[in-house]
Amino acid sequence: MARPKIALIGAGQIGGTLAHLAAMKELGDVVLFDIAEGTPEGKALDIAESGPAEGFDAHLKGTSDYADIAGADVCIVTAGVPRKPGMSRDDLLGINLKVMKAVGEGIAANAPDAFVICITNPLDAMVWALREFSGLPHEKVCGMAGVLDSARFRHFLSLEFDVSMKDVSAFVLGGHGDTMVPLTRYSTVAGIPLPDLIDMGWTTKDKIDAIVQRTRDGGAEIVGLLKTGSAFYAPATSAIEMAEAYLKDQKRVLPCAAWCDGVLGLKGLYVGVPTVIGAGGVERIVDIKMTKDEQAMFDSSVNAVRGLVDACKGIDDSLA
Ligand code: APR
Repeated sequence: MARPKIALIGAGQIGGTLAHLAAMKELGDVVLFDIAEGTPEGKALDIAESGPAEGFDAHLKGTSDYADIAGADVCIVTAGVPRKPGMSRDDLLGINLKVMKAVGEGIAANAPDAFVICITNPLDAMVWALREFSGLPHEKVCGMAGVLDSARFRHFLSLEFDVSMKDVSAFVLGGHGDTMVPLTRYSTVAGIPLPDLIDMGWTTKDKIDAIVQRTRDGGAEIVGLLKTGSAFYAPATSAIEMAEAYLKDQKRVLPCAAWCDGVLGLKGLYVGVPTVIGAGGVERIVDIKMTKDEQAMFDSSVNAVRGLVDACKGIDDSLA
């Protein structure tokens, strides 16, 4: 059987890390696409040359021609510009919307059967625009945000409790931004919910509140440290987890920006929700019941995403 084909649209910091991870995990052959002359070819060759020592079997190709992504099984989109210190994800909207148009058309023409994972920010609005421009089925287009946000949450919790990250699970909802909604009662250590751990004296509510806020600000914390770009190792790892779930039909339950139409009280919006990812793409959305407080936080997150979608429509008439 031929190896799966993974097309990475954008060969920058995240794109290069995605290519390296996909090759090391032997998820398939990798095509790196970018408009920056020489970058995709250089990264593809560099990673391919790590193959003999690492011992992986994967073909890597760099290109600036969309024809080379033909027949891709998975497309992961990072094309666009990242944040600089002082910028919010939303500041990227105008520039990255134009990029989504070009990418959406390129995918539609060359890889219409692919499972598409968008990483470009502002995430929830960009994945919506990418779906609109590509015309692919909604269940085959989603965004990577919740896996990263919950990974950050899990990391901080594991430090607080001094336990393995493997035994910490976390649950986040909503848009990828300051309004994201970490759900503490569904976040656990060895199955014990955080509110119970507070009652047991393992931590305090103030400490959990501070961790929730650090999770919300997780992207900005990295931007502030790096100064020249945004996070790329953890975002790439998170998207690879989603791609692997699709390619291996794992039916993983992963939070991602998915098309919500008739679930969680939403009518047609991309926003972060728990989903099941398998060979059908986003096969199911877990339609959870929220408490009043959680619903209020989720509603404000949904409104923020709607505002960005409306801003996209204001910029590009074809989306209105
Ligand atoms: N088509 C293809 N590639 C493009 C296009 C385009 N129209 N426009 C820009 N690019 C490429 C750039 O040439 C660059 O190599 O996208 C790449 C982006 O890489 P980086 O600048 O290194 O950004 P990165 O850190 O990888 O983040 C990419 O993901 O998390 C988000 O906010 C982040 O939107 C940003 C995206």
